[in-house]
Amino acid sequence: MSLLHSALRSGLLWASTNPTLKARLPRAAFVRRAVSRFMPGESLEDALAACEALRVRGIGSVVTLLGENVTTADEARAVVTHYAGVLEEIARRGLDTEISVKPTHLGLDLGAANARRSLDDLAACAAAHDSIVWIDMEGSASTQSTLDVYRAAHAAHANTGVCVQAYLRRTGVDLERLLADDAHPPHVRLVKGAYAEPPALAFEKKAEVDASFMALAARMLDAAATGAGRLIFGTHDSVAIQAIGEAAAARGLSRTAFEFHMLYGIQREEQQRLAAEGYRVKVLISYGSAWFPWYMRRLAERPANLAFVLRNLFPRAARLDPRAAAVNNRRAGNPETRR
Ligand code: FDA
Repeated sequence: MSLLHSALRSGLLWASTNPTLKARLPRAAFVRRAVSRFMPGESLEDALAACEALRVRGIGSVVTLLGENVTTADEARAVVTHYAGVLEEIARRGLDTEISVKPTHLGLDLGAANARRSLDDLAACAAAHDSIVWIDMEGSASTQSTLDVYRAAHAAHANTGVCVQAYLRRTGVDLERLLADDAHPPHVRLVKGAYAEPPALAFEKKAEVDASFMALAARMLDAAATGAGRLIFGTHDSVAIQAIGEAAAARGLSRTAFEFHMLYGIQREEQQRLAAEGYRVKVLISYGSAWFPWYMRRLAERPANLAFVLRNLFPRAARLDPRAAAVNNRRAGNPETRR
């Protein structure tokens, strides 16, 4: 990672937690235009319409209501009630769609018992619809409590899955513990990690994170060979995806023994290609109005995206230059993205 890239990443991750920016920037029209590249819209209806469009293309989906760090038990309850309604609506429409939730959206900051209660209710509701609840992984301050809440919930509800982050130095040990649970085969989503973390806890260099991701992926494929739960690779990294496909084939695994999940608006052609080749593919779609911190994390993943934001400052100029607009869309890998 270059110095400039690293400075931009740190700046964007700082911005993601800054209350003033969080209050002001989302009101700017050019930011709202730029964010539409990563989310089909703020409403649940927008998200479910995108799920339907994906289903038609043979791609599954996962939806998440944006929001984190709730400060009251009532807010956490409202989130559970919202997702219960979402699960019902997904079932009513016959969509191949699951839900993913942030632990601090379920009340983790109010204590593990709060998040556990929310998760229990949600998992019971998902079970009634033969579905699963995915648990996102947030900053390292909540890694242990998230894993604890997951483990306790998973022992009671097999239909819960958790995300682990390859950039954390501890994840090799965490993954071993998860995979060792024979009584309750784990459902695990491996990602690289999207938060600002100190070097003592996380690998700093991109090459180290990529190497860690591949080592953990290999471990998960070994587990898939012995019949673990659902194993997900949440990445847009074409090199990693190719390597995982080859490593799986070398182990004699079928293409449906694991899954690739990506974020809406990123590597759309790759999503389609993988689905056409017989891999299981799902796209994670975010919706809701609390998108600022989440959007800053998406920009930090690829600071080149800032150019896209800036271009939205001058949408008229972009419209006047159709060639530039076409190049933007190709780069996004998302020709149908609304501007
Ligand atoms: P990498 O960053 O190396 O990117 C590979 C390529 O993908 C880039 O070269 C670029 O082409 C494309 N790309 C990646 N990010 C892009 C972006 N924002 N805009 C445009 N192009 C981009 N993190 C976390 O901490 N907790 C979580 O719970 C989750 N959950 C989650 C679920 C799913 C389904 C996915 C796909 C990702 C997450 N993440 C996450 C985010 C994850 O940690 C990571 O930050 C991003 O996926 C980017 O890393 P890649 O693996 O894509 O590789």
